[in-house]
Amino acid sequence: MQRVGWFRSSSGNRVVISLTGLGLVGFVVFHMLGNLQVFEGPDALNTYAAMLRDMPMFLWTARIGLLGVAIFHIALAIQLVLRNRRARPVGYALREYRHASVASRTMALTGSVLLVFVVFHLLHLTAGLADPSGNNRLDAGGHADVYGKVVHAFQNPLYVVIYLVGQLALGVHLSHAVSGSLQTLGIEHAAFNRLFKAAGPAVALLVVFGNLAIIFAIFFGIVRA
Ligand code: HEM
Repeated sequence: MQRVGWFRSSSGNRVVISLTGLGLVGFVVFHMLGNLQVFEGPDALNTYAAMLRDMPMFLWTARIGLLGVAIFHIALAIQLVLRNRRARPVGYALREYRHASVASRTMALTGSVLLVFVVFHLLHLTAGLADPSGNNRLDAGGHADVYGKVVHAFQNPLYVVIYLVGQLALGVHLSHAVSGSLQTLGIEHAAFNRLFKAAGPAVALLVVFGNLAIIFAIFFGIVRA
């Protein structure tokens, strides 16, 4: 019973948000590295996508796991924001509260933009609903032409702008989130504290630069169909 109480407490919430968040960061890094194969040409990216599809057990376990982790992360984050809003600061706690409140509002705002972006992204590139003309193509080897649909997408300035907004939200969210999560999980050591603080911005820069490289290389015709 005590464990259920801890799980529902603010600190319990923060620990689960941190763990699920770090899991999602793992996906975002892995996804970016996979997508960078666009620079190697259609064969590399399409063969990689086909390899994932040829392992349906792995793919669906990973998809369902990812969805579960994302739902937990978002639901607990909403609960934490609502709880913080209800909390009434008194006396000396007011300054600290204001500081924490700016950080949590930034996380709530960038997290919400990110959620809208991911829903759009799934409709766009996975379901092909936002841009049916770019979907359902096959390459010369008979594989789904993931390379072709990504190139088609970022030749369009409207999609470039939407994805840039998503990258901005992702960058700000990650740079706050990673270091904060390490702190919440108590991963601290005097000798490495500066390194842990730098971990958030470093991961954010890595992921955002990787994704921006794909978007701009296509938009400026360096990578083409
Ligand atoms: C330039 C940036 C990005 C590119 C080029 C890209 C590309 C893609 C493509 C092509 C797919 C569909 C794969 C297929 O049809 O086999 C996909 C799926 C997906 N993307 Fe992205 N993506 C980008 C950024 C992101 C970001 C920032 C996130 C999350 C924050 C994300 C989350 C997902 C998810 C959850 C899926 C579904 C995975 C699945 O179906 O198994 N993507 N992405």
